[in-house]
Amino acid sequence: MITNFLDLDTFSAEELEDLLHLSMEVKNGSDQSKVLPGKFIGLIFEKPSTRTRVSFEVAMTQLGGKASFLSVNDLQLGRGEPIQDTSKVLSSMVDGLVLRTMKHETQIEFSSNSSVPVINGLSNKSHPCQLLADLLTFYEEKGSIEGKKVTWFGDFNNVCFSYAQASELLGFEFWIACPEEYIPPSAEIFKNLHFTQSITEAAEESDLISTDVWVSMGDEKDAKKRLRSFSGYQVNADVLDLANPDVIFLHCLPAIRGNEISENLLDDSRSRVWKQAENRLHAQKGLLLKLLGDY
Ligand code: CP
Ligand code: NVA
Repeated sequence: MITNFLDLDTFSAEELEDLLHLSMEVKNGSDQSKVLPGKFIGLIFEKPSTRTRVSFEVAMTQLGGKASFLSVNDLQLGRGEPIQDTSKVLSSMVDGLVLRTMKHETQIEFSSNSSVPVINGLSNKSHPCQLLADLLTFYEEKGSIEGKKVTWFGDFNNVCFSYAQASELLGFEFWIACPEEYIPPSAEIFKNLHFTQSITEAAEESDLISTDVWVSMGDEKDAKKRLRSFSGYQVNADVLDLANPDVIFLHCLPAIRGNEISENLLDDSRSRVWKQAENRLHAQKGLLLKLLGDY
């Protein structure tokens, strides 16, 4: 059976923890150059990317395989070739596909016509690969996340959705500080979320605080309104001061200093964003080994 990775709940809690342990082993291990010999993945991206693209390309190279970046504009897909035809043809040649798409439905259509695993490298709905890196960073820094308080500030976007899924799977308390009008209908499927408009209530006793841009790729048409609506939800040193003394701060990047974070927050002593960004590579390796290898 093909295992796609369109969302975090592809895996059970046990499988997810196993994947994170594998990522840690790979990160701390030695030569991995013969683990996926001859394996080839295609990266089909409709939106820009720095971390996701490069971490998959480097991960495949270091594991002994190869990855090729296929911008939609360079494929016949960009001239109207149907998704199902593209998926059938490409999956007959490659061992896996990573998609970054405007619409999550594209991922579903692509994967239902593919004979190889399809990985969601970000859609408007979710960003499960990002959560692998965030969870890996938390485990490395603080151990198990079960029962901890994790707080998200700002937009309930794709990254936040994947945090909500992670909270259900791994049993952490998930708080979201955002304007009421930005709580999306998709939040209803989660039973354990705590929404608040109080910065203090959100931040106090948090073990992890995270945020993301107020205007995600695809949301540009509402940019002005969004910047106004989220202006009270910036994460800064004063917000981190309200949390547990050993709180860590994560941001998936790219970040806009002066908007969702204060100018120097990425370099605050509680920030782990550079480690988190590097962990995209190690988490991607764990995922590739699970989906394409015998692990
Ligand atoms: N965090 C993240 O997915 O970054 P990129 O958009 O650079 O891939
Ligand atoms: N929420 C952001 C994440 C970028 C990695 C976006 O979708 O643009």
